[in-house]
Amino acid sequence: MEKYIINGGNVLNGEVTVSGAKNAAVAIIPATILCDEPCRIENIPNISDVTLIAKILQNLGAKVTRVNKSTLDIDPRPINTYCAVDDSVRGMRASYYLLGALIGRFNNARVAMPGGCNFGVRPIDQHLKGFAALGAECELLNGAIVDAHSDRRMQGTSIYLDTVSVGTTINLMLAAVKAEGQTIIENAAKEPHIVDLANFLNSMGASIRGAGTDVIKIRGVDYLHGITYSIIPDQIEAGTYMAAVAATRGKLLVKNVTPKHLESITAKLREIGVYVEEYDEAVLVDATERRLRRCNLKTMPHPGFPTDCQPQFVALLTTVEGTSIVTENVWDNRYQYVRELLLMGAHISVESRVAIVDGQVPLHGAPVKATDLRGGAALIIAGLVASGTTELSSIHYVERGYEEIVEKLRALGADIKKQYVPEDEAAVTA
Ligand code: EPZ
Repeated sequence: MEKYIINGGNVLNGEVTVSGAKNAAVAIIPATILCDEPCRIENIPNISDVTLIAKILQNLGAKVTRVNKSTLDIDPRPINTYCAVDDSVRGMRASYYLLGALIGRFNNARVAMPGGCNFGVRPIDQHLKGFAALGAECELLNGAIVDAHSDRRMQGTSIYLDTVSVGTTINLMLAAVKAEGQTIIENAAKEPHIVDLANFLNSMGASIRGAGTDVIKIRGVDYLHGITYSIIPDQIEAGTYMAAVAATRGKLLVKNVTPKHLESITAKLREIGVYVEEYDEAVLVDATERRLRRCNLKTMPHPGFPTDCQPQFVALLTTVEGTSIVTENVWDNRYQYVRELLLMGAHISVESRVAIVDGQVPLHGAPVKATDLRGGAALIIAGLVASGTTELSSIHYVERGYEEIVEKLRALGADIKKQYVPEDEAAVTA
């Protein structure tokens, strides 16, 4: 058991280099299952979700070699099973990409239901509807394992998604990339990591057009050859540092980013009064001596404001002038972290999908608990601006998605460290 100890009050300044995108990496690593030759994946973030998905591939029989901190060599050829049902599979959400990838390779998949952050109900009905349209019969075994089976190759077809879903769009691309004929996904999600996955598959010889728009057309191919591919920068990690530096009224050059992917975040920061300048692969965020003011913020699928930056912005909005109104349109229960912010003195009221955030309410350090990955990031930001000491527990959530967050924040001037908690003390505070 470990926790973060944060002494608030320091202003963040300097430069930070953003890692590869978690949500692209956790899709591209299982996508290698479809490849007929070994691949090398670069710019992989060194986070626990990546370690876990790489381990799951290894358990399936793939040869996975870590070349350096951010590069993996994956040889998927030895994989000879389509069953992924052990406990590690339940440990993360993105393990559902095994379904699409295994169906794409074997026309069959048997995968344990995914875990991941809890935002209320996280259905996979759209995934299953899509697999069925491609020709796989899907059943839920004992309420815990998805079994998709077919005795022939998937057949290309048109699939209209009832909900704009990142996971479904990715999973159907994986299941259709080697299908017979053409698959059309309508009302597809447009997130940068969907485009990244399409670029990865196309570089191997796939034929996918329209990724990044709401209609994706996939013509099935027989063979995917090995490549070296570098994952895009993490839009959400970048947004987290942008929110953190604004909250502490500092100045930060955020490097290794694609500014286009950050447009909705940049626009919102400018609206509240932060100076943001875009370069080719970096953004400068300057909140020094600026008067920051309230805003309304609504999360939407890309290119709207990302739900994965909502908690970090709520933490920022506690520091600005006026009362902000935040509406969460993607998940029905993504405010669990708010009760922890209340323990730090925040004035936030939540009614269903709307949070009303009073600004300029001084926060004070407190023992708090990460409730999920991005909620944990919001509590770190709150700890950085609070007076006194914040002790953040359940940091395994944060470490699922942020590479070296303590080291990166310390290099910017934050007073944050990781502390080991003996088992018996952890049991008392749990
Ligand atoms: C991905 O989750 C991300 N996870 C999430 O990031 C992110 O919050 C989410 O997309 C939205 O951007 C990964 O990429 C691993 P969805 P995903 O399918 O794919 C409903 C983070 O912090 N829906 O786009 O699971 C669903 O209930 C994580 O990094 C259905 O109704 O999200 C939700 O309301 C957390 N039926 C909406 O669609 C389905 O079959 C969007 O979900 C599937 C989804």
